[in-house]
Amino acid sequence: MSLLITGGTGYIGSHTVVELLQLTDGNIEQDIVIVDNLSNSSTKVLERITQITDKTVTFIEADIRDESALERIFTQHTIEAVIHFAGLKAVGESNEIPLAYYDNNVSGTVTLLQVMKKHQVKKLVFSSSATVYGDNESPLHEGMTTSATNPYGQTKLMVENILFDVAKSDADWSIACLRYFNPIGAHQSGLIGESPNGIPNNLLPYVSQVAVGRLKELQVFGDDYNTIDGTGVRDYIHVIDLALGHVKALQNLEAIKGCKAINLGTGNGTSVLEIVNNFSEISGVSIPYKVVPRRAGDLATVYADASLANELLAWKTQYSITDMIADTWRWQSKNPNGYN
Ligand code: NAD
Ligand code: UFG
Repeated sequence: MSLLITGGTGYIGSHTVVELLQLTDGNIEQDIVIVDNLSNSSTKVLERITQITDKTVTFIEADIRDESALERIFTQHTIEAVIHFAGLKAVGESNEIPLAYYDNNVSGTVTLLQVMKKHQVKKLVFSSSATVYGDNESPLHEGMTTSATNPYGQTKLMVENILFDVAKSDADWSIACLRYFNPIGAHQSGLIGESPNGIPNNLLPYVSQVAVGRLKELQVFGDDYNTIDGTGVRDYIHVIDLALGHVKALQNLEAIKGCKAINLGTGNGTSVLEIVNNFSEISGVSIPYKVVPRRAGDLATVYADASLANELLAWKTQYSITDMIADTWRWQSKNPNGYN
């Protein structure tokens, strides 16, 4: 039996693959097949995964929109379940090239679902996002109404709705829609981590590239929010905790009848300046920053009510903000240019 991981060479996918390969409880014993078009990742990740785990995976370079490529994968391997990470994820870029987002994220997922259905594979873990909560007030819980303010968010919401419909149409499906908060950090080995192309959009990759001298200074988007120090507050979650959330979701898929949305966050918020100060302290490098106006579309405070994941999956986060920053710094300082 095999597990198919779409987008498995990406940031969250690669960390999840490592955790799956290192499972010792024998609960999941499948071979791992990764499909990725390498649009935002590198095959170097595969060598690093083997270096960490001493195990290999099957890698197929293909696009999830390519139905015949997926058809070949499902014919050549006995796929039991799919973890679906593949997609585009930059909010700003999604406003500039919305069709590419709808095509990759929505059409790509529909193609994947069609091939899964054809091959009677009806177990899926999907990468959703806290962005589907729109401007609801935190703590955000799964019962809240959903909405989107940009094409990226729309794609996550559309896919969630498609998955709910698919599960309603056929009781054999078990689908976990995992709503991630803000994943940061890296594997403790420093061998895999986040390696964004171009100028990073997210806070942590930006701060760490300032710390290694690739970028001059951080722009802090607003210090006049109603928060502890006026800067934006987010629920940062260690990528390893997030990866372990996928393992738990997979192990509990049988119990999830239909489609279930589940938050993966810590339930705690940290401000931009708290991140900057912690990063300087842990790395010993000062992070120059300048406060600039608010970024359009940003909310003051976003954090999870993480109780459902705890109840349903027996999952709880283990790592602190200090761990997240220390691991980010280890990865970035050992690999100042990421995988390049
Ligand atoms: P990533 O860009 O590092 O990984 C995504 C992977 O998918 C990349 O390796 C990319 O090459 C691949 N890919 C993209 N389009 C593809 C296609 N059409 N066919 C095949 N492969 C394709 O991103 P990530 O941070 O690891 O995110 C993984 C998933 O989690 C995405 O769906 C993203 O939207 C979602 N998510 C991420 C965050 C975050 O902050 N990182 C937050 C919420 C949700
Ligand atoms: N920030 C800065 N300067 C930067 C980058 C970010 O001050 O250069 C601030 C933002 O204003 C915000 C905080 O840092 O207050 C976090 O911003 P990120 O861009 O890292 O993360 P967001 O919370 O805006 O969004 C991220 C993903 C979305 C996902 C969401 C889920 O980018 O795709 O988390 O909660 F939907």
